[in-house]
Amino acid sequence: MIEISVSDRVFVLTGAGISAESGIPTFRGAGGLWRNHRFEEVASPHAWHRDPRLVWEFYSMRREVAGTAKPNPGHVALAQLEGSIGERLFLCTQNVDNLHEQAGSRCVVHMHGELFKSRCDRCDRPPFADTKTYELSASVPRCDCGGQIRPHICWFGEVPYHLDEIASALNGCTVFIAIGTSGVVEPAASFVARVHGRAQSFYVGPEEPANAASFTRVFLGKSGEILPTLFHYG
Ligand code: OAD
Repeated sequence: MIEISVSDRVFVLTGAGISAESGIPTFRGAGGLWRNHRFEEVASPHAWHRDPRLVWEFYSMRREVAGTAKPNPGHVALAQLEGSIGERLFLCTQNVDNLHEQAGSRCVVHMHGELFKSRCDRCDRPPFADTKTYELSASVPRCDCGGQIRPHICWFGEVPYHLDEIASALNGCTVFIAIGTSGVVEPAASFVARVHGRAQSFYVGPEEPANAASFTRVFLGKSGEILPTLFHYG
């Protein structure tokens, strides 16, 4: 049980594990491979410059998988947490699916981007809603400016989004909870160390993450089973 008092500010960081029970494979669980390509080979600026059609084929596959996925009780529990404590919850996800939103969460910070958005790789037109999928043989979509339309995803070697907002939420939180993330991808893996000494920190997932030693307490199990009864409001 995690006690949440009326003065607590809660920072929740979710990773691929929270969507595993919704049928979306985790990264490291899949061996880090897609059709014999390492993720870095299809999720990097280098890959985009070398073969944008392959990159679009990869994200089209991911749009198809995530497009039929439904939130599980873990996502629902976090939407209920927001319903209970409102803006004292900061929900930050590394996931690019929209299952938190589907579960009813209204404030979700997607630090690695959003699968159902695209943007231009040349001009500063804002990211826009996009559910299209492309075959390998299709040509790469173009912006009016002549640039290529790319997925709105933070690739390896790119800077995650909303880092200022995230830093200030980390500074202000009194409870930190990481869920379903292996604790190896920076900067998210270091968030728990940044709250050390100021906030209670908890991890929820079926196995210990790489940064387990930094947490006050680890709850071992599936998030869809643990989260629905985890929070107690003081
Ligand atoms: P990983 O695939 O590295 O880790 C998923 C974690 O989820 C593992 O620690 C599993 O033990 C855990 N897990 C599996 N099933 C679970 C369940 N039912 N409930 C709770 N946890 C479960 O995924 P992330 O840590 O999210 O970045 O990966 C971080 C980033 O690496 C991703 O956002 C992605 C990837 O490269 C980008 O795309 C930029």
